[in-house]
Amino acid sequence: MKPLTRIRSHRDYLDAYAKSVEDPSAFWAEQAESFIWRKPWDTVLDWNFSDPDVRWFEGGTLNITENCLDRHLSQRGDKPALIWEPNNPEEAHRTLSFRELHAEVCRTAEALRAKGIQKGDRVCFYMPMVPELAIGVLACARIGAVHSVVFAGFSAKALADRIEDASCKAVLCSDGNFRGSKQIPVKDVVDEALAKGCKSVETVLVLQRTGQDIAWTEGRDIWWHDALEGMPTESAPEIMESEDMLFVLYTSGSTGKPKGVVHTTGGYMVYSAYSFLNVFQPEENDVYWCTADIGWITGHSYIIYGPLLNGTTTVMFEGVPTWPDAGRFWEVCDKHKVNLFYTAPTAIRALMAKGSEWVDKHDLSDLRVLGSVGEPINEEAWHWYHEHVGRKRCPIVDTWWQTETGGIMISPLPGITEPLKPCKAMQPLPGVQPIMVDVNGNELTDTEAEGLLCIKHPWPSILRTTYGDHERCRQTYFSAFKNLYFTGDECRRDADGHYRIIGRVDDVINVSGHRLGTAEIEDAIDEHADVVEAAVVGYPHDIKGQGIYAYLICAHHVDDHEQFKNDVLETVTRVIGPIAKPDHMQIVSGLPKTRSGKIMRRILRKIASGETDRLGDTSTLLNPEVVQEIIEDSLHGKVS
Ligand code: PRX
Repeated sequence: MKPLTRIRSHRDYLDAYAKSVEDPSAFWAEQAESFIWRKPWDTVLDWNFSDPDVRWFEGGTLNITENCLDRHLSQRGDKPALIWEPNNPEEAHRTLSFRELHAEVCRTAEALRAKGIQKGDRVCFYMPMVPELAIGVLACARIGAVHSVVFAGFSAKALADRIEDASCKAVLCSDGNFRGSKQIPVKDVVDEALAKGCKSVETVLVLQRTGQDIAWTEGRDIWWHDALEGMPTESAPEIMESEDMLFVLYTSGSTGKPKGVVHTTGGYMVYSAYSFLNVFQPEENDVYWCTADIGWITGHSYIIYGPLLNGTTTVMFEGVPTWPDAGRFWEVCDKHKVNLFYTAPTAIRALMAKGSEWVDKHDLSDLRVLGSVGEPINEEAWHWYHEHVGRKRCPIVDTWWQTETGGIMISPLPGITEPLKPCKAMQPLPGVQPIMVDVNGNELTDTEAEGLLCIKHPWPSILRTTYGDHERCRQTYFSAFKNLYFTGDECRRDADGHYRIIGRVDDVINVSGHRLGTAEIEDAIDEHADVVEAAVVGYPHDIKGQGIYAYLICAHHVDDHEQFKNDVLETVTRVIGPIAKPDHMQIVSGLPKTRSGKIMRRILRKIASGETDRLGDTSTLLNPEVVQEIIEDSLHGKVS
């Protein structure tokens, strides 16, 4: 078996890039050859972006877990595959070798099979960051079940919507969740979600984590340890077609409910492995730690699949960066001798705000590569990360990608892309063909340009559809510009051809690296009986990147503003979860609207950002007088 193409120099990069554009099929066939396939593919790529219909490695069959686990057993059986660091530093950490992880995945796979879960069935996860989450996800992949991981901070309603959308047959959860100083009742949330309907769910597998009291539904609920009792440590992998669904992951868009982004088996495997290898450049004995939650795409591709496919030791962390104190990340880095570290700008900013002494006192001499993901990183945070964490010797890979892209698309390669430019994602990986267009879809051909970021050729882990609604996938990503995948992001390209991602151009806001649709938050706020209308916009926030600013029209005069706002916050927490809670709320008598009744968000965004002197023309509004009133109230503190 040939190894994946590993880029070691700028020359290698240029060669690989040229090859990948000249003959994408040959380039990707070469990458795919480094994996175990039960049957080789007939066609490398078949595609059109108009339906869209993209198929990689058709005719090929495989199981991704054979490539994550079985293939490593002979050479790396005793090497740590997964190191789990618990929330509480006093509790012992756990290390599972590739052999142990393989055995646990097999036992869990057989337990799921025993519960009647078969190839193609959807299985929902709503769990803390414990090894069983990664094991469960891989167990699904082992038997060909489609995993749908829901971040355990979402509300019961949000969970129920996601379970119903994918008609999940089982839910895997825990009794509770330790997060910082808090203990969260996970199973209660699952019970509440299932009480809302979710008729497809036959089984709830419950992991004992906190030992707290929980309600029990006989016949439906089963303890994880009971289900695994007596299960064999070998489990025949289900043989999957390359284009069989591997997972669905829900993400917010600018309209409507979150959509289930679908990734399939062969292409996702090739791309997550290839991108991990080149962006992090792991050596055989490296320890790699990505601080994301497996509830997001970063956790799927770069805690579980990318590292394990490469046989790299991956660290999984249950806790939060600031508990018991702001030194926790660095303590964990030293404890496990982390070499490759991947986190989000929001975490860096939060830790920077606590003072450099928390990081400066740690050794961190094993660190070699630092990564950033999820949102634009600002200069101050970049330099702090570079100086205090990387001690000016570790390159920072600012990785741009999306749930829909499945893997990192634009990023420097450490030690290869030099010199690094702070806050720039720099250059596309070989195999990725970005193109910038103006709002009319005209290609911006000058090297130096600012415009909308699209991709013009498929890469193996491009989303295939949105679950149960292919038309929505077409509309959202492939209809704005003919024959292009539209990312929803705006970017700048400098005279050297290096990319800087500016942010979303649609009504999606990025709060602490979490993607939220403004429409989704507005719908949640509207559920409060006293709210007539709400408009939500993002504004620059020092720690979160973007904060949520909500303008509300109330049904009647509200005497107790504080109480009302608290009620609204509770409503949002109930409908979506605490991550969607507005940072600021302002009660207004009206919202600026066009003559056709559309809310002028541009104006609200400017007011929320304090840029009231740059509102532009407001004379065409239906109700220009309301703008002045909103500005005055925002200045006079009628805002929380
Ligand atoms: O706006 C971009 C921003 O995050 C969006 C994708 O969010 P999500 O699907 O939740 O995936 C996040 C983790 C991959 C993008 O459309 N984004 C992601 N990475 C960066 C970024 N913005 C700037 N720089 C980045 N490195």
